[in-house]
Amino acid sequence: MENIKAYVQEHKDRFINELIELLKIPSVSADTAYSHDVFETADAVKASLEKAGCDFVEICDTPGYPIVYGEKIIDPTLPTVLVYGHYDVQPPDPIELWTSPPFEPVIKKTEIHPEGAIFARGSCDDKGQMYMHVKALEYMVQSNTLPCNVKFMIEGEEEIGSKSLSWFVERNQEKLKNDVILISDTGMISNQQPSITTGLRGLSYVEVEVTGPNRDLHSGLYGGAVANPINVLAKMIASLHDENNHITIPGFYDNVEELSLEERAEMAKAPFNLDNYKKALDLNDVYGEKGYVTNERNSIRPTLDVNGIWGGYTGEGAKTVIASKAFAKISMRLVPNQDWEQITELFTKHFTSLAPAGVTVKVKPHHGGQGYVTPIDSIGYKAANMAYTETFGVPAIPVRSGGSIPIVALFEKELKSKTILMGFGLDSDAIHSPNEHFGIFNYLKGIETIPLFYKYFVELSK
Ligand code: BES
Ligand code: MN
Ligand code: MN
Repeated sequence: MENIKAYVQEHKDRFINELIELLKIPSVSADTAYSHDVFETADAVKASLEKAGCDFVEICDTPGYPIVYGEKIIDPTLPTVLVYGHYDVQPPDPIELWTSPPFEPVIKKTEIHPEGAIFARGSCDDKGQMYMHVKALEYMVQSNTLPCNVKFMIEGEEEIGSKSLSWFVERNQEKLKNDVILISDTGMISNQQPSITTGLRGLSYVEVEVTGPNRDLHSGLYGGAVANPINVLAKMIASLHDENNHITIPGFYDNVEELSLEERAEMAKAPFNLDNYKKALDLNDVYGEKGYVTNERNSIRPTLDVNGIWGGYTGEGAKTVIASKAFAKISMRLVPNQDWEQITELFTKHFTSLAPAGVTVKVKPHHGGQGYVTPIDSIGYKAANMAYTETFGVPAIPVRSGGSIPIVALFEKELKSKTILMGFGLDSDAIHSPNEHFGIFNYLKGIETIPLFYKYFVELSK
């Protein structure tokens, strides 16, 4: 395995250029205007897996965007690693805040990435992290060191809820049979301190609509005499948190697991600097649920956030109007044991009950998924930790993340296997934000670390 470092050094320019080509295709799954590009990206991923050394690769059609499946089976009696990733990306908006166009990747140096980082939508989430696995496979095939079987399943709808993937997994249990699932679609603490994600939050995403009068009205002639849907919506939303920032939906916390003081003390050992955190976001203070610190608020606690709110007149100048309708998109991040469908029902019941006379309220569920926690005594976790320890020189720290990858819980249910989340991104890489980037250091370190995971996983499985 010594050669992996040398191999990466020798081929790094090509590795970077190949990723740049993939990032140029705007595979935005949320917006049908990009549909052609999403399909084209699937073809590009297929070609890259073939080139890297898979024996069999196919585009699997689904009711939505295709899933790219590839495999290299060297010996059915050996373990099988299933790699999951996604080739779709978030919309680039607000596009005017990018310092370079989102689909014209460029390498720029930053304070955190002195070796440079690739700026482009999807560079970190998840094309760059997914492609590390393709290049790690290339190395193992070229050097004849692939120690087990490998399967790839790369989807194109992760950012919109993985509907077709659930459909696909339910129908292909035998094909997807594996001993461990390996995903790089999360982050780590810093380039000096690797971490392994041991938990993901679940999600319930809904859209609400408040309707008042049957048309937009003159706000002088009717103002004060009819309910203003925007005023009402703002009040309803405000009431969803109390003065301690607890969520007020009855039953919301019923299944929330309370961590012991020992577990919380263990969590607090992970390096974290509140001043730097505030500085990086230009905040004069943090904000959140009373009784919990920042790293608990964004991982082991459930949340409710408005992601977008609109209605009425938002154009230039002033228009005096009472809108007929007001809307908001609301997400709830959930912790393990909270059932997302039940939470969606509790939300719907409560939110509808908040409506005063004079308006009607509709709640439309979008998508959701269960949270996930994984133990740190599994072979997969140990193998990942050994791999990080070797390439970073220090062991990885287990960290529960605030983000969601809902299909991880589904994998456990349908395929009965555990997922190892080996992420190489940083929180500062601005995923989903303008100027998303992925460090060259992180990209190459990922390619270096992944083959070691295979090696140790196979050794520990014996
Ligand atoms: N890769 C992210 C999730 C993530 C990022 C987890 C960093 C942990 C650390 C994924 O692509 C994502 O954005 N997931 C969505 C949920 C999905 C259902 C749209 C999310 O977390 O908002
Ligand atoms: Mn992702
Ligand atoms: Mn994402």
